[in-house]
Amino acid sequence: MLGECVPHDIVSAPTRGSGHESQDSITIEIEAIEADAAARVAAGGSPELQPRRDYAPYRSSLLRHPTHELVRVDPEEVERLSPAFGHTDVNVLESDLTIQHAGEPIGERMTVSGRVLDGEGRPVRHQLIELWQANAGGRYVHKRDQHPAPLDPNFTGVGRAITGENGEYSFTTIKPGPYPWKNHVNAWRPAHIHFSLFGTAFTQRLITQMYFPGDPLFALDPIYQSIADADARARLVGQYDHSLSVPEFSLGYNWDIVLTGPKSTWMESEEDHD
Ligand SMILES: [Fe+2]
Repeated sequence: MLGECVPHDIVSAPTRGSGHESQDSITIEIEAIEADAAARVAAGGSPELQPRRDYAPYRSSLLRHPTHELVRVDPEEVERLSPAFGHTDVNVLESDLTIQHAGEPIGERMTVSGRVLDGEGRPVRHQLIELWQANAGGRYVHKRDQHPAPLDPNFTGVGRAITGENGEYSFTTIKPGPYPWKNHVNAWRPAHIHFSLFGTAFTQRLITQMYFPGDPLFALDPIYQSIADADARARLVGQYDHSLSVPEFSLGYNWDIVLTGPKSTWMESEEDHD
């Protein structure tokens, strides 16, 4: 699946404006949209739990979002032609991103553990989770990421796992660094890890991002802020959990992923939500 793990937030070029706007002008746009959304909620409207697909501060979203009715396909026919995976295809060692090379990767070792749940709090078992991320310096192993931070010969930044009987998962990795992107001048993404979840079929794939608590870049980031509802945004932030920290080895974060319902984790789904 490496070929699909293109971090689109690093490769997106601005499609409106010059890309030379300042952070201040982007921040003003973000704040105006959030104030407008909050006023709608105060007037009795529903909170916006999903990101706006044509969210202007995130410049490349303007031309990339669907403008026509989605093409409906027969899911069974698609599945007949799609790749398939079995539980035995995923080795338990693939959830440890720190042992994929001869040496130790550089950076702050971390463990991220949690559960995949449905809207009623029931565990979602035997689901394929894939993750991909930048290294400690904020650099992806990807030809489109050429910003001048070092690659780490001992870190590729991809892993996968299958959820257990209680929907649990756990990855050992390196805390990713923030990195610059081309949305506007001096644009930086908060540190994050991309997550992909498969249901029982490839057509059910969901993609999202996990962030880290207290990141000073949250208020400045058009991707994080494209969800107008603050509580929904906060559900993308993993929590430091000292019980998950491994003595002498790693710091632990907890992040549960809720697939459906009002407390669901935002997903970059292509599905319509009407
Ligand atoms: Fe990214």
